[in-house]
Amino acid sequence: MPVVPMPEILEPAFKNRYGVGAFNIVNDLTMEAVLAAAEEARSPVIVQVSVKTVKTMGARLIRLMFEEMAEKVSIPATLHLDHCPDVKVIEECLEAGWNSVLFDGSGLSYEDNLDQTRAVVALAKKCGAAVEGELEAVRGVEDGIGSVNEGMIIPLDEAVSFIRETGIGSFAPAIGTAHGLYKGEPKINFDRVAEIVAREPVPIVLHGGTGLSDEVFRRLIVLGAVKVNISTQLKITFADALREYLNEHPTEYNPLKLLAAARERVKVMAIGFLRVFGSEGKA
Ligand code: 13P
Repeated sequence: MPVVPMPEILEPAFKNRYGVGAFNIVNDLTMEAVLAAAEEARSPVIVQVSVKTVKTMGARLIRLMFEEMAEKVSIPATLHLDHCPDVKVIEECLEAGWNSVLFDGSGLSYEDNLDQTRAVVALAKKCGAAVEGELEAVRGVEDGIGSVNEGMIIPLDEAVSFIRETGIGSFAPAIGTAHGLYKGEPKINFDRVAEIVAREPVPIVLHGGTGLSDEVFRRLIVLGAVKVNISTQLKITFADALREYLNEHPTEYNPLKLLAAARERVKVMAIGFLRVFGSEGKA
């Protein structure tokens, strides 16, 4: 089906409290595998791309590829730019017709972040796109963007004003999750999600999905964290699949067979997450 705007995916998910996977794809193969997973699970899906991948492939090529692939499946899918502090890259993606962007102003002062996020929301509106906002840095470096430390936690009143004054469509708070692999048991701030949603009913974005337990996912989703980001696990699955295939078939040189093995594993991985998030059968 044709590509759908982000609110068409997030609004029903938020209302009915199921999670939607936002998978950071790295190329055509992983994009297609994630869409095929959603098709098989009859689930809506968010195809998410990091700035590094945009710089490697180009915003237009990714959008064209996405449009072509999304047309071939019969579930709602939308294209989102992950953590982007660079307004130029955001403009490029919006001009190329992307559906949604995360303006990551967590490195700015509250006032500058507010001003710049507002400007990005205005620009996105003209292009029919949605904006995810971020105030506090999520711990962990993702494709060269981010910080090893969690950002300062902003008082609830300011976080709520930020959501209201910027007009963002979803909000990514720091709740103790982190990008990359967890070294120990993460201490999740469930109350923060509940408090924000109680004051301002906006879909919350769960960053750092890789390594969280099914129980943590489910608790956070029920509270309103319905956009669930998965990046590291996709990379691990992709790389492991290639490694294992080559180990098992040391004389195989046909790239298509090698890639088909990786595609299958990424697809199975994504279906597993969609089931846990509760979006299976929702499309
Ligand atoms: P992981 O790399 O932990 O899956 O986090 C993904 C993410 O939050 C992307 O922004």
